[in-house]
Amino acid sequence: MNLKGKTIILAVSGGIAAYKSAELTRLFKKEGADVWVVMTKSAKEFVSPLTFETLSGNRVYSEMFVDSSIFNLQSSISMPHIDLAKMCDLFIVAPATANIIGKFANGIADDLLSTFYLSVTSPVLIAPAMNNNMYANPVVQENIKKLKGFNINFVEPGFGELACGDKGEGRLAELDIIMSRAKELLSNPPMPPFATSPSPPLDGGEKGEVKGGRKMGLEGKTVLVTAGPTHEAIDPVRFISNLSSGKMGYAVASAARRRGANVILISGPTSLPVPSGVRFISIKSASDMRREILKEVKKADVIIMTAAVSDFTPENYSDKKIKKEANEGITVKLKKNPDILSEITSKLRNPQSAIRNPIIVGFALETDDIIKNAKEKLKEKELDFIVANSVNGFGGDQNKVTIIGRKGNLDDIPLMSKDAIAEIILDKVVSKD
Ligand SMILES: Cc1cc2nc3c(=O)[nH]c(=O)nc-3n(C[C@H](O)[C@H](O)[C@H](O)COP(=O)(O)O)c2cc1C
Repeated sequence: MNLKGKTIILAVSGGIAAYKSAELTRLFKKEGADVWVVMTKSAKEFVSPLTFETLSGNRVYSEMFVDSSIFNLQSSISMPHIDLAKMCDLFIVAPATANIIGKFANGIADDLLSTFYLSVTSPVLIAPAMNNNMYANPVVQENIKKLKGFNINFVEPGFGELACGDKGEGRLAELDIIMSRAKELLSNPPMPPFATSPSPPLDGGEKGEVKGGRKMGLEGKTVLVTAGPTHEAIDPVRFISNLSSGKMGYAVASAARRRGANVILISGPTSLPVPSGVRFISIKSASDMRREILKEVKKADVIIMTAAVSDFTPENYSDKKIKKEANEGITVKLKKNPDILSEITSKLRNPQSAIRNPIIVGFALETDDIIKNAKEKLKEKELDFIVANSVNGFGGDQNKVTIIGRKGNLDDIPLMSKDAIAEIILDKVVSKD
């Protein structure tokens, strides 16, 4: 994606990874973006503003109170915390210190960066970087959770050797990951910050390691989730579909993202907000779904197919609206759609295949003989798990499901929220049990 015409405000706070932001500035400039850098006082201890001014070609802002000689130089920016916010298409904080995350989460506005944060309305992307113990500290995790609840996007830090000599989670995410998340946010802007209530808290649960309030186990894994219904067009204004709301798939995508996975969500038409931090691919028909899955499937470590893909599609499509005046009644003949799940499992389960063998979770929606039919589907399609549910779960926020594993293990999950069911499904994926 070319970033020409996009204005990125890149904030640099006082961490050892501040030097990496210089390269980030260069990369964004190379892609055509107009980059403006805001630095905290501490950040200037690590890298000189001159570096950023040279790389960005723009003045670097650091102080709340700009002296009047600067007004004359760049008259359009007299109050940087307001004026820069108005120009901003994407606000990135990299590296973000524990301190600045704490200020953002608690509305403290005692310097330019923290005040700017309160006035910005564009998407916000935060890339934390700090010592692993600082990152695991419950206060830091609580602040991150709070900000995520306000639709603030995070690029999770990486694992590895830290500047302080320790090993753990806290390194600034790789620059190409920050770049690609930035491009996603610019090409497919999510809900603006602060537009919804905080996301539901994560409980500890029995399985899945819990770090600083987050369930782990999918860091760096690619999880492909399908969700929603499909629309099978009859003519330009009519289609056949089903009652799927997409809520289950969106809950799985959000939960996988919170556990550190790179999530690809392929979704049919729904009215749900796109979960923050996922790569979102919007489709309409079963054949769109098939095309996009086949493109993405090679990357996936885990595939969770919650979409209610239409089994049938009209045999003929009328490219003009079918007029009621010309017809007393019409017959729409349906033909079978390709079975996407069978197609991908036959490819992926093939021992000769060069593609990795992912964990595959299917969903079965039945009105009769739910468990028997689900078990047959599990075996026939060589799935690792199948989630059997009845039509009662369609559309609502809760569901009652049975999860059946490859080894024949069967878990009856009582009625609970789809968010909680998503966590249970991911626990099973992580433990493979
Ligand atoms: C050498 C050194 C390295 C530091 N690295 C980090 C870091 O990587 N992450 C962090 O959160 N704080 C780090 N700190 C502490 C911050 O600089 C300190 O909390 C400061 O108040 C942050 O201010 P700011 O958020 O306004 O930039 C470091 C401090 C020193 C002296």
